[in-house]
This record gives sequence, C-alpha cells and structure tokens, in this order.
Amino acid sequence: MIFGRKRGNAAATIGTIKTSRYGSVVIFLHWLTLILMVAIYATIEIHEAIPRGNPMRRATEDWHIYLGFVLLSLVLFRLFNASRKPRPPITPSPAVWQEKLTYLMKIYLYVLMIGMPLLGWIYLSADGAAINAWAIPLPAIAPQSVGLADFAEEAHELLGVSGYVFITLHAFAALFHHYLLRDDTLTRMLPRFLVKR
Ligand code: HEM
Repeated sequence: MIFGRKRGNAAATIGTIKTSRYGSVVIFLHWLTLILMVAIYATIEIHEAIPRGNPMRRATEDWHIYLGFVLLSLVLFRLFNASRKPRPPITPSPAVWQEKLTYLMKIYLYVLMIGMPLLGWIYLSADGAAINAWAIPLPAIAPQSVGLADFAEEAHELLGVSGYVFITLHAFAALFHHYLLRDDTLTRMLPRFLVKR
C-alpha cells in the first residue's frame, strides 16, 4: 500500500513545505521492533494454548525468552541512536495537547519495551531458573525469592496486557494523524519506497 497524499486536500501543501523524516536506521528499528513484539506476543499466546507436557510448550517458552532478550538489546541500541538525533517535526504542527500525549505514549512504549524483558529476567532469576539466550548462559540479576518472583511475574504479565491496549492506541493515533489530521506523522516513519511523492 502506498501512503500518498491527494491533490486538493489540506495536506497537499506538504508538497511545497520542506518536511523532515526519521533516519533510515530509526525507521528500520521501529518496524523491526513491531515484528519482534508480534512474535513475542504470539509465542506467549501459543504457549498458553498448548497443553502441559507437550514439548512444544517448552519450545514456545524458550523462544519467548530469547526474543525478549533480542528486544532488550534492540531497544537499548534504539535509545542510544535516538538520543543522538532530534525527533523530526510534524508538518503541519499538531496541537500542543497532542504533542504532550505523543510524548507520554513514547515514554510508556520505552518503559514497556525495557520493562517487559527486564521483569521477565528478574522473575527467572528470583525463581532460581537457569537463564539462557540461545545456549549463551546469562547471569541472575536478582536474588532468589518467592515473593520477588511472584511480584515480577505479575508485573510482567500486567505490563504485557497493557501493551495490547497501548500499542493498538499508538497505531490508531498514527492512522488518525494520517487520515484525519492529514499531517506527516506516519509518512516520516515509513520507508521511502512506501511514500508516494
Ligand atoms: C502498526 C503498528 C505501529 C504503527 C502504525 C506505528 C507508528 C508510529 C509512528 C507514525 C511514529 C512516529 C510518531 C512521532 O514521531 O510522533 C512512531 C513512533 C514510535 N513508535 Fe510506533 N508504530 C507501531 C508500532 C509500534 C510498536 C509495536 C512499538 C513498540 C512497542 C512502537 C514504538 C514506538 C516508539 C518508541 C516511537 C517513538 C520513536 C522515537 O521518536 O524515538 N511502535 N510509531
């Protein structure tokens, strides 16, 4: 699907204004994160659907953990990369309240992407489980404790469930900006080949 802009609508003026876009690394990392999040949620949903005792259940749990570590590494690199470049402005500028909401959502999404794998890691550590990411042994990051394991497990699950709601809201906000406000919020986060000039 090509995300272009029709002549004659309010946003057509964007063609005469110099708009700025996210860099290609940020765009690549953003959509790779989406694929990873889908895979992480899929592994846990499939895990829940497989009966206990079936070896596939263990395999989906392992993949959930491996992908969580990939997400954590990716998001730390993404944060480092984002801190070196300013966020490109949206054209035309949205209302201040929308910018504030976007900022809050961005903080939440980073908390989600860092908090989920970290809480999972704390849970495994507190539970005394061996922690591996593809045969690479990883250290425990919390002392063994039943109370801490329970807390981390609950918090991991709660944050995960909130992710369904807020990632959906985030995606709808992008579509709201594109189709109703007709600004370039979405197009500046899309690869160039998807954006009609
Ligand atoms: C279909 C799904 C998605 C769509 C359509 C979408 C769209 C967008 C758009 C248009 C932006 C730019 C917003 C702006 O700069 O004001 C953005 C930024 C962002 N998105 Fe998404 N997104 C999706 C999924 C996700 C997922 C799954 C995550 C991670 C959980 C995520 C995390 C972020 C973050 C952290 C930013 C801020 C980037 C930065 O400036 O550092 N997005 N997204």
